[in-house]
This record gives sequence, structure tokens and C-alpha cells, in this order.
Amino acid sequence: MAIPAFRPVSYSRTTLTELMIPSYANFGGKIHGGILLSLMDKVAYACSAKHAGNYCVTVTVDGVHFLQPVEVGELVSLLASVNYVGNTSLMVGIKVIAENVKTGIVKHTNTSYFTMVAKGEDDKPTQVPGLILEAPNDTRRFLEALKRRELAQRYQSEFAEAKHEITVEAELYRLENERCQLAYT
Ligand SMILES: CC(C)(COP(=O)(O)OP(=O)(O)OC[C@H]1O[C@@H](n2cnc3c(N)ncnc32)[C@H](O)[C@@H]1OP(=O)(O)O)[C@@H](O)C(=O)NCCC(=O)NCCS
Repeated sequence: MAIPAFRPVSYSRTTLTELMIPSYANFGGKIHGGILLSLMDKVAYACSAKHAGNYCVTVTVDGVHFLQPVEVGELVSLLASVNYVGNTSLMVGIKVIAENVKTGIVKHTNTSYFTMVAKGEDDKPTQVPGLILEAPNDTRRFLEALKRRELAQRYQSEFAEAKHEITVEAELYRLENERCQLAYT
């Protein structure tokens, strides 16, 4: 199938729903964060590959904060859509909600952003279709993604510079109020 120059957001919008079974739980009885991360990666792949019409790989993950625990027996739904496209990359926004089927209470556990890159037959990054923004929310998400990308690039270069400037001997004083001990001389 020929890949069009543009595709609408709705073309690749994807929802993945999964029941949280006991084997997904940690020793405290809550669902492992890794299970949710794996589901998020899966839905990011489905959504990005559908938009790209090609195999995609995960490059970066932004905004993973699990603020509320997910319980065994809850139905977790991951709502994914392409928020932004660059040339070969695309950012998928994923909203994760967990529903208690007995009470009907739905909690929003997190929203995260996966940057994916499309790969061609030669395994090299390949161009993805442009994005048709079909509603004001799509435009807002696209603009937010631009900002997110810009800030991430700035953070990466500033941190690389700051890391380069850290001299252990000169900065040992910063550990005074930290909860660590040096076990060497
Ligand atoms: C990601 C990857 C394709 C980049 O390859 P590359 O040869 O450096 O390609 P480019 O520099 O042309 O970058 C390709 C795109 O990735 C984006 N990209 C690269 N590194 C990035 C980063 N750290 N954060 C965000 N985007 C990034 C670039 O901005 C570019 O996007 P654009 O085309 O929309 O402008 C390559 O590093 C790779 O295959 N990594 C392994 C990914 C993988 O296997 N993931 C699964 C988990 S193991």
C-alpha cells in the first residue's frame, strides 16, 4: 500500500485495554510499573507504526510518573494518539486510566510521551506522513510536543555541559546534607 503524504490523527488513534491479573502484581499487591511500561511501549508501537506505515522503534520516553497505584482486578486502558511528527520521528501521547469494574471509579494514572522513529526496509530512519490536525486539541498537543522536544533538547545539552563541569573533589561539600557516606579514603 502506498504511504500517503499526510494522515489524520484519527487514522492511528489506538486504545489497548488489559485486565490486571495477579501475576502482574508486586510483593505489595500493586501492579508492577514495568507491566504498565511494557503496555505503553506496545500501544506506542501500534499507534506509531499505523501512522508511519512502517516498523517503528522507541527512542525516548518522557513524563513517566506513576502517581497512583494500579490494583489487581482493575481494567487498564491506554489511549494513544500521534501528537507530533518530525521528519522520521513521531511523538505518541499515551493516557493511562484504570477502572475498578465493580465501583465504576476511573482513575487517571499517568500521561506519558513516547518518541518513536520509523525504519525503512534498509533499517534506516525513514520519513513519516505529515499529520492532519482534525480538532483544536490536536493542534494544542502538536504545539505542546514542539515545546516538549525543544525543552528536552535544551536539557540534554545543558546537562551534558554541566556533567562535564562536575569535579568530584571540589563538590564533595554538596554531600554534607545528603543521606550518604563515603566508604573509601
Ligand atoms: C533512534 C535511531 C533510529 C536514531 O538513528 P540516527 O541514525 O541517529 O538517526 P537521526 O539522527 O537521523 O535521527 C532520526 C530521528 O530520531 C530523532 N532522535 C534521535 N535521537 C533522539 C533523542 N535522543 N531524542 C529524541 N529524538 C531523537 C531525531 O531527531 C530524528 O528525528 P526527525 O527525523 O524527526 O528529525 C537509532 O539510534 C536507533 O535505531 N536506536 C535504537 C532504537 C531501538 O532499537 N529501540 C528499541 C529499544 S532497544
